[in-house]
Amino acid sequence: MHIHAPQWPQAGLALDKPLNEWLNSYTFPLEAKFKDKEYAEKIYYSLIKELLANGTTSGLFFGSIHNEANLILAKICAELGQRAFIGKVAMDNPEQTPDYYRDQNSQVALQQTEEFIQAMFDLRNQNKAEITPVITPRFVPSCTEETLQGLGLLAKKYDLPIQSHCSESIWEDHYAQEHYNLRDTQVLDKFDLLTDKSIMAHGTQLSDQDLDTFSSRQTAIAHCPISNIYFGNSVMRVQDAHQKNVKIGLGTDISGGFSPSLYRNMQQSIMSSQVLTDQGHDNARISAANAFYLATVGGAQALHIKSGQIKSGFKADLQIVQDQYFDISSNEPQEIFERLIYHTNKENIKQVYVSGKLVHNKLGEE
Ligand code: GUN
Ligand code: FE
Repeated sequence: MHIHAPQWPQAGLALDKPLNEWLNSYTFPLEAKFKDKEYAEKIYYSLIKELLANGTTSGLFFGSIHNEANLILAKICAELGQRAFIGKVAMDNPEQTPDYYRDQNSQVALQQTEEFIQAMFDLRNQNKAEITPVITPRFVPSCTEETLQGLGLLAKKYDLPIQSHCSESIWEDHYAQEHYNLRDTQVLDKFDLLTDKSIMAHGTQLSDQDLDTFSSRQTAIAHCPISNIYFGNSVMRVQDAHQKNVKIGLGTDISGGFSPSLYRNMQQSIMSSQVLTDQGHDNARISAANAFYLATVGGAQALHIKSGQIKSGFKADLQIVQDQYFDISSNEPQEIFERLIYHTNKENIKQVYVSGKLVHNKLGEE
């Protein structure tokens, strides 16, 4: 539900600075390298193979500002069978982005977004692949008002999903307050960027009122529990959001989160929720079943895909997982399930299918 594709070389690195410094010191210089198509091709093959090996059947991706590299990512997803939702990142605010990595102005940001949408439609028609363009303002501070407004209009014109970051950190919230005298949520809402096809990453600082807005707009949250520890310095209130009927799926936030594995993120979502329980949040704890729901049904609902359940009429997105230590086939289903959540890694994911197509196969290797 939230992957920064060009940040893959940095996964597990550079986790020592707060968000704003991290973007300028490490992340913008890295993303700027995707002007180089050969580099993009090498990194994106590695990323998509790794995601499939970890059992990720659908991915919602931020690309970079470069359409050529973004289309390389889309082609690789089509070739390897990764269902993908991909956005050309829009970021044109000269006060918050460096000269070497910025859309030159709002017109360029919007025009290139529209060109990317058209190219993705062409590619989808040619390849019959499950790839969808996504409207992608990086986050409020990176964009000018004209760009936020234009992107809201483009999302409507083409009826497309929208992705961004919302209330990830106190710094981000302060920015919205200072520049718009509004909450981050209210800024996005003002530009029609909170729709029933919007997926906003993090949300660790969302207030009850913000959650009500998400609920009434039917906007989803991408919960990224590993990243939230590093950059949000906090825990997203999953149970409170669910109580308000806000859709939530699970994301890795590569490279704000170091792991490409949704299992690793399921584990962290359970552990992090435990931290809230003695801090005045009643019923904050989430179970293994809740975490599994976020990684499957929650994500599928947010992306409007008939997936995430093994059920007639649903896409056959499946994994074959083998317990690495014991034959547990005669254990109780609940025990098998908990072992699946806590002990699955890419070594014991033997096969992965997307829409019934085998996209990763380790059976017969040993
Ligand atoms: N906010 C704006 N850009 C980013 C990013 O690349 N990663 C994270 N975690 N937050 C962001
Ligand atoms: Fe992110």
